[in-house]
Order: sequence, then C-alpha cells, then structure tokens
Amino acid sequence: MELKDYKIIVTGSARGMGAATVRAYVAAGAQVVGMDVARELGEQVAADATENGPGTATFLTADIADADSVNHAFDAAAQALGGLDVLAHPAAIQRSGDAASVTVDDWDLMMAVNVRGTMLTNQAAHRLMAPKKRGSIINFGSVSGLRSEPVAPAYSASKGAVHSWTRTAAGAWGADGVRVNAILPAIATPMYDEAIARLDEEGRTAHFWQNEQSIALGQKYGDPDHDLGPVMVFLASEASRFITGQLIPVDGGQTSVR
Ligand SMILES: NC(=O)c1ccc[n+]([C@@H]2O[C@H](COP(=O)([O-])OP(=O)(O)OC[C@H]3O[C@@H](n4cnc5c(N)ncnc54)[C@H](O)[C@@H]3O)[C@@H](O)[C@H]2O)c1
Repeated sequence: MELKDYKIIVTGSARGMGAATVRAYVAAGAQVVGMDVARELGEQVAADATENGPGTATFLTADIADADSVNHAFDAAAQALGGLDVLAHPAAIQRSGDAASVTVDDWDLMMAVNVRGTMLTNQAAHRLMAPKKRGSIINFGSVSGLRSEPVAPAYSASKGAVHSWTRTAAGAWGADGVRVNAILPAIATPMYDEAIARLDEEGRTAHFWQNEQSIALGQKYGDPDHDLGPVMVFLASEASRFITGQLIPVDGGQTSVR
C-alpha cells in the first residue's frame, strides 16, 4: 500500500510496460487512469487490475500525439481522480529502417508520437501538478537514444530527444516540486517481440550481440511485472523525492556493460 490514495495517469496502458505499471500501482493501493489508443485491451487491463485491488483503475482512450486528445483526457482523469500525483508515460511506437533510407513519413510519425507525445503529456501533467507543488513524471527513453541504432534510426533519434526533454523539464519544473525522470528499459513486451519478428536469422544474431549479450543478469530481457513494476512504484513514491532529471536504466546491466 505504498501508493495508497495516489492519483496516477499511465499512458500506453493497454499492453507491455504500461499494463504492468497499471497492475503495480493498483497493487500498491493507487487510483489509476490508464490511457491508450487501443480501447478494448486498455479496458480489460484496467478491469483485471481493479479486480485484484486494493486500488482501482479505469480507462480513457487518448492519442498522445494529439494536443486536444491529451488535454481533454488529462482534464477528465484529474477530475475523476480529484487531482494528479504521478504520470507514468510508457506510450510510444517503434518502426524499423536504416539511416540511408528512412522515410519522411516514418520520421514524422516517430517524432509525433514519441517526442511530441512526451512534451504534450508532460505539459498536461505539470499543469495539473504545479499548483500543489508536488508530482512525479516518469518518461521512457532507451539505450537506443544513447548509441548508434542500425535498424531503427528514427526511433533512436526520438529517444535521444526524450532524454534531452526529460533533463530540460526536470530543470524547469523542480521549483514547482515536479520531478521528471526517464526509465531506459530492456523488458520483454509486445514491442520487443515485434522487433524480433521483423528480423531474419542474421538479424537476430546481430540483435543478440548488440542487445541481449550485454544484459549481465541472464542475457535476456526482463519481466514487466517483476523487474519493472517495483521500480515504477519507487519512482512514483516519496521514497524517490530527491531524484529528478535522471536517465535510469532498468535493463539487467545492458547500458553500462555493453
Ligand atoms: N521493450 C523494451 O525492451 C524497450 C526498450 C527500450 C525502450 N522501450 C520503451 O519503453 C516504453 C514501453 O514500451 P513497451 O515495450 O511496453 O511497448 P508496447 O508497444 O508493448 O506498448 C506501447 C503501448 O503504447 C500505445 N500507444 C502507441 N501509440 C500511442 C498513441 N499515439 N497514443 C496512446 N497510446 C499509444 C500502444 O497501443 C501500446 O499499448 C516505450 O516508450 C518504448 O519505446 C522499450
């Protein structure tokens, strides 16, 4: 019950790390509103989490790339919850490609969802948190934003932008009591499965040497509920009250050991 009565929005809540975060927060006693473009899955995740309790979760459809959609959904969530203490923001997309042939469409899509979506959701959360001088925003970066990424150049650039934004927002909003950090995960989710499925055998071998090989804790991606959930609870809670502006790998060592 570390998050008893906390009021929390989780984006990308329909699957992967967003769904695991909803489960972790409800299990810690929080009141959660999940948001996603995938309505049916999102409603199911919220219903299942509420059934297990002791907190509760509901769901709202929202497109994080669209300003009106974000502002409308955040206002409705804050009204239903009676405020906002925490934004967990895993929602994002990934597309493949290579540096020489990445298209304008893919580039713009990645920047709209991953970068603009982070700015819009963070601004909406800050607007609701600042008057109370308290809040925690948890963005999602990536090791892809720290290194060369041969098969996902636009995604990599978008995650580098999320890192920069996280530092800037943390610097700007510390005086308002609003903390902003980013998780850099290596966690087995549908996004990971889809990235692997796009690769041929040679690509999978290259993927192992670039990604799994350097995960010191077992050479495989982690579990969303067991390896990520408790960290999300910590970053939402007062236990992390003096941590802001940080890029925090939850990756079995991948980022440091590579
Ligand atoms: N899986 C990994 O190992 C890994 C590694 C590095 C970074 N990340 C980052 O972690 C975060 C979570 O990744 P995941 O693996 O759980 O992804 P996922 O694809 O499994 O889940 C992402 C969710 O975001 C939702 N979403 C996509 N576009 C949206 C939009 N416009 N508006 C609202 N919701 C939208 C999707 O419907 C989906 O439910 C992402 O930011 C991702 O880039 C993941």
